[in-house]
Amino acid sequence: MKQCSDTMNRSSLTDDDDIEKMKELKEFDETKAGVKGLIDSGLSMVPRIFHCPPDDDDDDDDGDIDDEEKLVGEDGGLQVPVVDLQGLDNTTTATAAGGRNKIVGEIRMALETWGCFQMINHGVPIPTMDNLLECVKQFHEQSQESKLEYYSRDSRKVKYYSTADMYITKVAQWKDSLSCDFEDDAAVDSQTLPSVCRGTIQSYLKCMVRLRNELSELLSEALGLEKDRLASMECLNISKFLCHYYPPCPQPELTQGTGKHSDPFFLTILLQDSIGGLQVYHKNKWVDVPPLHGSLIVNAGDILQLISNDKFISVDHRVKVGQIGPRISAVCFLFPSKKNESKAYGPLTELLSKNNAPKYRETSYKEYVQCYAAKGVYDIKALPHFKIA
Ligand code: OGA
Ligand code: NI
Repeated sequence: MKQCSDTMNRSSLTDDDDIEKMKELKEFDETKAGVKGLIDSGLSMVPRIFHCPPDDDDDDDDGDIDDEEKLVGEDGGLQVPVVDLQGLDNTTTATAAGGRNKIVGEIRMALETWGCFQMINHGVPIPTMDNLLECVKQFHEQSQESKLEYYSRDSRKVKYYSTADMYITKVAQWKDSLSCDFEDDAAVDSQTLPSVCRGTIQSYLKCMVRLRNELSELLSEALGLEKDRLASMECLNISKFLCHYYPPCPQPELTQGTGKHSDPFFLTILLQDSIGGLQVYHKNKWVDVPPLHGSLIVNAGDILQLISNDKFISVDHRVKVGQIGPRISAVCFLFPSKKNESKAYGPLTELLSKNNAPKYRETSYKEYVQCYAAKGVYDIKALPHFKIA
């Protein structure tokens, strides 16, 4: 088995430049004011700790676009699939049942080819989503003193910080994040949530639980399995919630909001505001995920790719920053809860056959995420480390 430690070694300090960068990162961290604090101080140039190398595939534009799935947008480019969940609840008529099959088929196609889709008519009220985005903005736009008590990189459940892995990658990203960890669904301790967004986050998470239950069935069906299959694996707990704030950036070409990565989870449900900037990598091209009011984005994570034996793909994505902002997003990550973090997950036996041998060894969520954490967002993917040679 390949170890992840090779990357850790690569991340260790190598020269004076790195030592200097670590010092600058620490100085920035110790302000506890995040990127928002830099902007408020009147900064007009992006400090070098935020300079990130261009993605090696930035210039690839040779995507051999076929007439796949009629997903060609108005501009002739590729368009992230949009799945309309309208009518899903009504299974009493033949038409409605047909509708469900159609939706399941669209989800299957989207996760097989893109690893993501935008979802509309998903049942989460639009005002609940709008309120959430607004209160995330309010949290980040409070005075520095009010936010200070939340700034942390320790293991506390509710905290805010700028760039979780910057001491590993030695690159800071152009965003601040409010992070909430919780056990099993919405059992988030209300007292620990910042008062400015407490009720709104709780209402939103309640909706996420309902949506998760729906998606758990739809995804099981899209894999050709019984609809309670994923639920029985207890792998889709809503256990982490990140609320990002990407301030406007004076030199957007020098930095990124979120570097290229795939999510090391089972599934991600993402809400973005109307600014734009999210891109997914598809057919050797970076494709914009256009803001669509009322929509939610679903991304397959690495572990869904692993258990589906590459049937569904975990999508690489990133966030470009712009001079206009702030951009707000709220991201729900679905993965096993603490009690299941050591449970082994491997390619589902029902999906395997003589012609489809397991491509990955079993791993636990804990082991997987440790491997991922050692790399940091700018490094290579963790998934290949679990591949059976
Ligand atoms: C993430 C992520 C995208 C966004 O938090 O993993 O990809 O739009 N966020 O903020
Ligand atoms: Ni992500």
